[in-house]
Amino acid sequence: MINMIWAMDENNLVGKGDRIPWHIKEDLLYYKSKTKGQTVLMGDTTYYSLKGYYKDKPLPYGKIYVATIDKSLVIEGVEMVYDIISFLESNKEDLWVVGGATIYKLSLPYADRLYISFIKGSHEGDRYFPQINFDNYKLLWENNTELVRYTLFEKVK
Ligand SMILES: NC(=O)c1ccc[n+]([C@@H]2O[C@H](COP(=O)([O-])OP(=O)(O)OC[C@H]3O[C@@H](n4cnc5c(N)ncnc54)[C@H](OP(=O)(O)O)[C@@H]3O)[C@@H](O)[C@H]2O)c1
Repeated sequence: MINMIWAMDENNLVGKGDRIPWHIKEDLLYYKSKTKGQTVLMGDTTYYSLKGYYKDKPLPYGKIYVATIDKSLVIEGVEMVYDIISFLESNKEDLWVVGGATIYKLSLPYADRLYISFIKGSHEGDRYFPQINFDNYKLLWENNTELVRYTLFEKVK
């Protein structure tokens, strides 16, 4: 099963440089509760950004796959993915795709479940999630707070 989890604002904004454009603690806690100890896939930009936050502490995941097209890049302690499409096509694991913008875009056609946090309002930034055709998905769950609409969508097979 391939799960994707992300937060975006009303314009599909997901990032500003290598950072998240907002600081919403409840969404961060939600994200952590879903991904803690899980097998995750992320792009190298997101990996280095997270390392910046966690400094010397280990990232709070299980197995970590890091995607890059730079075949000379090897990061200790993670599995490198140089061809994300072949990787996703042959995946048999319970995988969580955790960003960023490029990796979300490439992974969307392979994802079974989308955990989307719709951040209310519009923010400043420069990395966007592509348009999603929600006709292809069924809403399984949602929870509304003042700041965020948390949702879970499943692909209609
Ligand atoms: N809102 C959220 O939920 C959320 C979550 C995570 C991240 N983000 C945001 O997303 C932004 C980062 O996104 P990004 O698009 O810049 O970087 P990214 O998705 O983290 O990483 C992109 C990397 O993917 C690699 N790549 C591209 N095509 C590939 C392929 N076919 N096979 C393997 N690897 C491939 C590229 O490697 P090369 O470098 O070798 O070209 C590229 O550097 C940041 O602003 C971050 O804060 C938002």
